[in-house]
Amino acid sequence: MKILVNGGAGFIGSHTTVELFNAGHTPIIIDDFSNSQKWIIDRIEQITNKRPKVYEGNCTDINFMDDVFEKEKDLEGVIHFTAFKAVGESIEKPIPYYKNNINSLLVLIEVMQKYGVENIVFSSSATVYGDPDTNPLTEKSPRKQATNPYGNTKLIAEDILKDTVISRAKIKTIPLRYFNPIGAHESHLIGELPNGVPSNLVPYITQTAAGIRKELTIFGNDYDTPDGTCIRDFIHVVDLAKAHIATLEYLQNQTSPFFDVFNVGTGKGTSVMELINTFEKVNNTKVKYKIGPRRPGDVKACWADTKKVQNVMGWKAQKTISDAMKDAWEWQKTL
Ligand code: UFG
Repeated sequence: MKILVNGGAGFIGSHTTVELFNAGHTPIIIDDFSNSQKWIIDRIEQITNKRPKVYEGNCTDINFMDDVFEKEKDLEGVIHFTAFKAVGESIEKPIPYYKNNINSLLVLIEVMQKYGVENIVFSSSATVYGDPDTNPLTEKSPRKQATNPYGNTKLIAEDILKDTVISRAKIKTIPLRYFNPIGAHESHLIGELPNGVPSNLVPYITQTAAGIRKELTIFGNDYDTPDGTCIRDFIHVVDLAKAHIATLEYLQNQTSPFFDVFNVGTGKGTSVMELINTFEKVNNTKVKYKIGPRRPGDVKACWADTKKVQNVMGWKAQKTISDAMKDAWEWQKTL
């Protein structure tokens, strides 16, 4: 299949582009490189021996998007990663978050309708479950009001896609609710490239171990969890990338209009402390850390029930937390 990958030079986008090539598909990247690097494209080529075609531009620009669809007439689907994703920043700058994350989706749906492209995989997030009452989370668990604009864009985007399907437009779509993607490609040629000081745990761990950051702060060890630190469902980015291929192949066999949501996680909760311990153990290195206060907006625990994606699409995470911690460290050392 010829697949448009919006945000294909980003963390999840670059790994998914590699997996698309591996599965025999033809990825075409759109990226404005505002939060990604051009050399990632060279690395994708190094890994796969294939170079993806790249259109440099912004997905909110309808003329640009129209032009891409005009040139790429036989597209069979789109994976839409394009989004701003820093939770804290979204509270300070809500408008760019709404503008970028929502407009890019609206423009995309419009051009897809115009050119008769039906399949769209959308990057949603476990953030739509808010602070869960129980774990693991199934797709039937209630969505909760978002605590920040970033999270709200994911709720709104899911609704936009659902309403488009309800209107009986010719569209087939699956928002994938990602849990916490971590790790890097096993070649260590691509991985996460945070902009400035990382807000996510794993890049903060690796940068601290590398001496770029002085010390990691664990945001709270007084939660009602076995070791007092928060629990998340950390999923290796390569597993997550592969879930997109399974989703596209599944969507291709559905009839239009179609909407469904799927969790993409491992089904296993790991605490912040356990993750740090695993990092130190598998890499035989130390991470300097201290315990700090809780971070506002953090939920105590959040992990996925993955039965649906496993039963319906036959996808299951294969890699372990140890694999992810090794790959993240090997990648960090190349930077
Ligand atoms: N943490 C620390 N210290 C740090 C960074 C993080 O202790 O320096 C802790 C957090 O308090 C949290 C855990 O590590 O308990 C994970 O934090 P991340 O920031 O890595 O990830 P979040 O679970 O907060 O957020 C992730 C994604 C969001 C998504 C959210 C909900 O980054 O995009 O999951 O699914 F919205």
